[in-house]
Formats: sequence, C-alpha cells, structure tokens
Amino acid sequence: MSKFRILHLSDTHFRQKYGKQLEKMGIDYFPPHVLETFLKTMQFQDFDMVVITGDLVHEGKSKDYQAFQQLINQYIPKSIPIYFALGNHDRRKSFYKGMKNLETPRNQEIPREEWQYDYVIDVEDYRFIFIDNFDPETRVALISDNQGDWLKLQLERAEQKKALLFMHHPLDVLIQKGLPHTLVGDDTRDVLQDDKLLGIFAGHVHMNRSTMIGKTPQWTAPSIYCGFHPIDQKMYYTNHLGFNVITLDGEQVDVFSDIITPTKKYYRPIK
Ligand SMILES: [Fe+2]
Repeated sequence: MSKFRILHLSDTHFRQKYGKQLEKMGIDYFPPHVLETFLKTMQFQDFDMVVITGDLVHEGKSKDYQAFQQLINQYIPKSIPIYFALGNHDRRKSFYKGMKNLETPRNQEIPREEWQYDYVIDVEDYRFIFIDNFDPETRVALISDNQGDWLKLQLERAEQKKALLFMHHPLDVLIQKGLPHTLVGDDTRDVLQDDKLLGIFAGHVHMNRSTMIGKTPQWTAPSIYCGFHPIDQKMYYTNHLGFNVITLDGEQVDVFSDIITPTKKYYRPIK
C-alpha cells in the first residue's frame, strides 16, 4: 500500500467578525485572511485527507460555520475528504445547524452521549476515530467512561486495521501550569494502550507538542489563528501559526510540523 497523507489543521477559531477581540489580544493580522492565503497556496493534491481538530469557529453562530465551510470547500478539492473534531470554543448547536444542516434540541433536553460528535471513518487499512472530548454543559474536557467503552469497541471492530484517534483536547499536556487536565478514567487509559492505536492527534494548545501517553504517541498541531507561548509564568499570544502533515506508511507514522507565519525563507537548495 502506498503512503497515506493527512493534512492536520487545528484551532482555526474562524469568525466573520471578531469585534474588539483581536485588538485585545494585540493581534495585528486578520486570521481568516491567513487561513484563506494558506488554503489558496497549499498543494492539496499531495494529501489523501484533511482533518481539523476543533475550535473550528470561535464562539460563533451557524452563519459563521456556514462561512467557514464555504471557505474551506472553495479551496480544498472535492476529492479530498475533510473531517472535523469539535473543541471547547465550538458551539455544538451552531455547528450542527451551520455545517450539517441539523437542528439539535437544547443541550439539556437530551443526554450528552446522544449529540456528542463521536464517529469512525474507515479508509484503506486505517480506522480514524473522532472523539468529542469536551462537555459544554460543565465546561470540562474529558473522555467519559462511556466514550472509553465506545473507543474500545471501535478498536475491536477495527480487526486488521490500524487506528488513529483525533480529538481536540490532548491528554497530559497543558497550555499553562495550573489548568485542568483532560479527564480520562483508568480503564480508558488502558484502552489507549491498544496495539492497534498508532497515535493520538489533537489541538487546543496552539503549539506543536509530542508526548507519550504510556506507549502511545500523541501529537498536537499548531493553530492557524494564534500561537501560545509561555515566558516567565505568563502566556503570550504569538504569530506562530502552522499545521502538521501526518504520513502513514503501514504501521509507521511520521509527523512533520510546518509553520505558516512568521514567513519562512527558502535559500539555495542543498547540493
Ligand atoms: Fe481549544
């Protein structure tokens, strides 16, 4: 089987208008323009799949999700499937209405399990598992025990396929000391050690981090909205924007983290 390439984007935090938000952050660029320029210049024919791991839209309405979808559909060729995970800044109701054309009941009227965005996609020799690991009611990041059981079942059903897990909140990695960790029960931690699981791919921290979760590697993709960088106990917003390229070759996983800004300079080719 040939190599399988995934463009892993995260934390686009798209909005049509940001009000005073960007000014308050000290950001001197308009993030949707950076996203559009990136989409315009990316060589999509090199990829088999695009995944965006959450915080697609920043606290937006269904119209923002529609505009976000329109923007990405304008540049990403139809032949390349795009899959999403949802993050802590995604409003589930607006996402379902704007991008899935689905009216969902008010959150409190049905249990979280019935509307959370968990799903599985099988392509070639791989099973891609997406988990919605944020509870908007309690504002807690977690893989619930029910989701852990569901994940176990999906790995069993993967049979000969190898699996990759995509979700917004990474495990055991914090943006800043003192923030709460993503909650995961011991049984689910055991499930994450399954030999079929080649890796965990997340976002949320707006920087590329590589962490071992037991013996399973986890990678986070940088954001296309803003970077985070800690200096002397303080966290700063930065213009370090980027994306990850995941290359699968059988059971081998290669992750290349590239930057969009600050602008990279290319000098002479190496002879
Ligand atoms: Fe986030």
